[in-house]
Amino acid sequence: MHVGGAKNSALKLMAAALLAPGTSVLHNVPDILDVAVMSQLLERLGCIVTVGDPSPESGSGTVAVEVPEEIAWEAPYELVRRLRASIAVLGPLVARCHRASVALPGGDAIGSRGLDMHMAGLRELGAQVRVEHGQVVAEAPEGLRGAALWLDFPSVGATENLVTAAVLAQGTSVLDNAAREPEIGDLCRMLVAMGARIDGIGSSTLTIEGVDRLSPVEHTTVTDRIVAGTWAFAPALAGGRVRVEGGVGGHLDLVLDKLGNAGAAVEVDSTGFAVSVDRRLRAFDVVTLPYPGFPTDLQPFALALASVSEGTAMITENVFESRFMFVQELARLGADVHTDGHHAVVRGVPALSGAPVVAHDIRAGAALVLAGLAGHGVTTVAESQHIDRGYPRFAEALTSVGADVARITEPGE
Ligand code: UD1
Repeated sequence: MHVGGAKNSALKLMAAALLAPGTSVLHNVPDILDVAVMSQLLERLGCIVTVGDPSPESGSGTVAVEVPEEIAWEAPYELVRRLRASIAVLGPLVARCHRASVALPGGDAIGSRGLDMHMAGLRELGAQVRVEHGQVVAEAPEGLRGAALWLDFPSVGATENLVTAAVLAQGTSVLDNAAREPEIGDLCRMLVAMGARIDGIGSSTLTIEGVDRLSPVEHTTVTDRIVAGTWAFAPALAGGRVRVEGGVGGHLDLVLDKLGNAGAAVEVDSTGFAVSVDRRLRAFDVVTLPYPGFPTDLQPFALALASVSEGTAMITENVFESRFMFVQELARLGADVHTDGHHAVVRGVPALSGAPVVAHDIRAGAALVLAGLAGHGVTTVAESQHIDRGYPRFAEALTSVGADVARITEPGE
């Protein structure tokens, strides 16, 4: 299986293109619904977005964003509610236009997902920020100025918005307790190529020296570690061997290590990794944490795997409180899971049994499909359009490694 560019990077890189008038060209952008929605949002702001044909192997391709000298600064609810990552335009808009009005997003049904750290950081940078008629409105008529910033929690989205705001501020900003996800490093590298001055990339302290103007750039999106991780869980759940071409083992150290300790054979090299499983794996505990901890986006897969592993696992979700919503669906397949707050105790059963279930978000949907592969009989996953928000050609990728998965039209469609 081939892995393309990361959704959670590409969407932010597209938003960051707003920082420089001219045409930025992004390679390795996944052909997914969320990218189409971000393209519509950028067009609404005055850009021209051209999406090239994706590679048939990785499902990723090139996107060109032509940014005019004058851009609009209002991101409307009708688009933002379809894509929570739309909030990533907030930092670039305040930096470029000195004001922004971005609707409070909707997005996955996986928690309250506050924006308090985004707003507090922008205030520190000199913006006046308020919520008005469902919009986050930020204004800095004199422009932003560098400041000392500290996050209570290394939020991915807040780190991105504050970095993209600070790159055009007057003076130096120091952002402490910044998120360190590989997607943040990718964004910072693109910004540096545009002319930004950022030190400490990859660490939890980012020092950003504001510049007057940035230039458009050509940049290749980092590989999607969550898609790569999903494919690592496929043989863990269904047996067999999968080679993940393009998967960066170093971005999944903890995940691959846990699979290896549980009894899978894991081989990592410079161009990808392979996972083979020829027995029932031993249950393992998981605690989700910001990178380099166990990714919350892979928690549903770990939970699904625990449900058919040998023994009992404790899964602790520290990042998104409602990520256990999908447990009720997994229970329909026969999983034995008891949740209490942000902990889940999973007792492995010998096998799951197919049933109709519902996908509530991207990762839960994908995890239910993999759980279905591990079960006897047919599993039907309704609302599978959630999966398309994060995975290009999900069913095709799985069929290419021998899984029996077909996309069917859902009743009523
Ligand atoms: C991003 C990813 C998502 C991933 C998550 C954590 C995108 C589009 N999405 O989401 O797939 O699961 O990182 O790796 O990149 N929080 C606050 N106040 C804030 C900001 C965040 O309370 O101002 C809370 C959120 O409600 C959540 C937690 O902090 O409980 C983590 O949020 P954050 O790291 O910001 O995740 P996202 O950027 O939303």
